[in-house]
Amino acid sequence: MASKVVLLTGGSSGIGAAAATALAKKDFIVYAAARRTDLMAPLKAAGINVIPLDVTDDASAAAAVNSIMAAEGRIDVLVNNAGYGSYGALEEVPLAQGRAQLEVNVIGLARLTQLVLPGMRARRSGTIINISSMGGRLATPLGSWYHASKYAVEGISDALRLELEPLGIHVALIEPGSIRTDWGTIAAENLRAASSAGPYARQAAAVAARLEDSSKPDAAMTSPASVIADAIVRAASATRPKTRYQVGFGARPMILLSHLLPDRIFDELMRWTFRLPRV
Ligand SMILES: NC(=O)c1ccc[n+]([C@@H]2O[C@H](COP(=O)([O-])OP(=O)(O)OC[C@H]3O[C@@H](n4cnc5c(N)ncnc54)[C@H](OP(=O)(O)O)[C@@H]3O)[C@@H](O)[C@H]2O)c1
Repeated sequence: MASKVVLLTGGSSGIGAAAATALAKKDFIVYAAARRTDLMAPLKAAGINVIPLDVTDDASAAAAVNSIMAAEGRIDVLVNNAGYGSYGALEEVPLAQGRAQLEVNVIGLARLTQLVLPGMRARRSGTIINISSMGGRLATPLGSWYHASKYAVEGISDALRLELEPLGIHVALIEPGSIRTDWGTIAAENLRAASSAGPYARQAAAVAARLEDSSKPDAAMTSPASVIADAIVRAASATRPKTRYQVGFGARPMILLSHLLPDRIFDELMRWTFRLPRV
């Protein structure tokens, strides 16, 4: 059987870089896309195709998809992985930053999906893998816009699964737990920039410390990006992928607890987890 062609966004770092490597090892033809192509020299050296992509830019997204279609004639798997955490108290985060969060994590995902679907429909086959988060099923303090974006990814994916199933196209959600990547450092930076000086300063300091800890190479209570990469390979290889893959530290138990516990008890658990001070 011919190798499947994969377009993976957010390939320059963390989960995306690990997934590109894992997919290439399993003989997928991988196109790893991101803005910082300079970081992707090791992927190139491993035989992975590296392409520039800003998921917020129509022309950039169209050019990325067109270049793969011209070279391969098809895209079998789209992995919508590009994303970041815009943390900060809702009162203090400028709306432009909230919009920017949705533009990358939600609209960017929809933009790429729209571009690959005509080809997948024509072949009546394909798999779309959306990287959500356990944060698409439960909320952490000071993460309003991030959770808005990941809850939206969950809703889009559930609706899309229904509409694409009759066309032979699969949709799978990956819901990572806490993973050691740059994500935590970037979310902490955004949080400090928005909320370190105002009325939420003490909460922000506590949450930023936890977010930053999760990025450290020796961080406890986290999993390596390879755990998520393996789940992406499983979803991309399956003839009928699971609808949801809850993988990485905390994902399964925390999502389960968020369903089982009354909201206010779960809130207490989150306050305790983030060592949130009472204001
Ligand atoms: N780490 C975690 O604990 C965790 C948990 C749950 C879910 N996730 C999700 O997993 C995904 C990958 O995150 P990660 O942990 O691997 O973080 P990361 O190491 O910071 O990687 C994020 C990737 O997203 C790309 N990206 C950001 N904005 C982009 C844009 N406008 N256009 C194209 N690419 C863009 C970045 O590439 P460029 O900057 O080079 O463009 C980078 O490759 C994200 O969707 C994140 O929300 C992470």
